[in-house]
Amino acid sequence: MSNVNRKTTVLIVGATGYIGKAVVAEAVRQGHDVIAVTRSRQNDRWFEGAEVVLADVSDPASMETAFSRKVDVVISCLATRSGLPKDFDDIDYKATLNVLDVAQKHGTGKFILLSAICVRKPELPLQLAKLKMEDALMRSGIDYTIVRPTAYFWVFDSQTKMIAKGKPAYVVGGGEQSRHNPISREDLAGFMVGSIGNSERSNRIFVLGGPEVPGNIITYRDALSMVFASLGREPKIVNIPTWLFIALLRIVGFVGLFSRRVGRFSGFLNVVHYYLVNDMRAPGYGSMTLQQHLMDTTRDTQS
Ligand SMILES: NC(=O)c1ccc[n+]([C@@H]2O[C@H](COP(=O)([O-])OP(=O)(O)OC[C@H]3O[C@@H](n4cnc5c(N)ncnc54)[C@H](OP(=O)(O)O)[C@@H]3O)[C@@H](O)[C@H]2O)c1
Repeated sequence: MSNVNRKTTVLIVGATGYIGKAVVAEAVRQGHDVIAVTRSRQNDRWFEGAEVVLADVSDPASMETAFSRKVDVVISCLATRSGLPKDFDDIDYKATLNVLDVAQKHGTGKFILLSAICVRKPELPLQLAKLKMEDALMRSGIDYTIVRPTAYFWVFDSQTKMIAKGKPAYVVGGGEQSRHNPISREDLAGFMVGSIGNSERSNRIFVLGGPEVPGNIITYRDALSMVFASLGREPKIVNIPTWLFIALLRIVGFVGLFSRRVGRFSGFLNVVHYYLVNDMRAPGYGSMTLQQHLMDTTRDTQS
């Protein structure tokens, strides 16, 4: 049978994640033959038009089943949800590497990896695991595109839900220590899927943010003010002194050595602190600004 008109088959791991779902939907929208690898059955709207295959990304034999037909491109949006150092190594590095190994064994030609802007200044286990994976991918010989995005909008979506219930927002030390140009998941998914068959994106790393317009180059405090404005509420922002946050970070870090639950919280606080004090500006891409996103989502929740 001729393959002349065969669609590009794209296999996506981490397909149930915040970004992964958008990547699945975008790959279908761009006309690809999409295999979404998950660890539980999925039937929500994000998976319409995709084949869902259950497999364990950490197990080579299990991943083999997902490659039962020819896969042209793999997109990895895998990321641990726990925030524990060992889990970063197990998922963001080892499981992702396992998927790469199986893909290469089956002759897949391209691997697109979702990484993070923060690997530029590695301090946390998350970043070290991601850097190891980036390095393994670049050495593997497969054609690759590595995408290192800035912050996503979901951070502010969870704030919106709390503020809509009348709760205040919290900032550490004024919340103006760093600036970001966050990117929407639709724009990020568009870039990642758009890297398929694009020779200018071949064997390259892209650091990527959302549109670089005044309303989208923002401090954390700016973003919270936008959330209040989109809900038509007076800003109610509580300042947590930096010294108190650092003290909490140390206490939780110590207790977290003995408790998995506190360890997860400690990992989360460390990421919050890192993003608070480090600028996350990146070349702009896409069209959706945080302000527009908040207006749209607020309209949806209030209608
Ligand atoms: N948040 C930000 O602002 C930001 C900014 C830049 C970069 N990033 C990076 O972007 C990446 C993806 O973020 P996201 O928000 O889309 O992640 P997410 O929503 O937490 O999704 C993680 C994905 O990995 C899968 N996964 C996790 N552990 C697994 C396991 N043990 N076995 C199989 N699958 C597993 C999850 O599957 P299940 O649904 O089955 O759990 C899910 O599909 C992260 O690496 C993050 O560091 C985030």
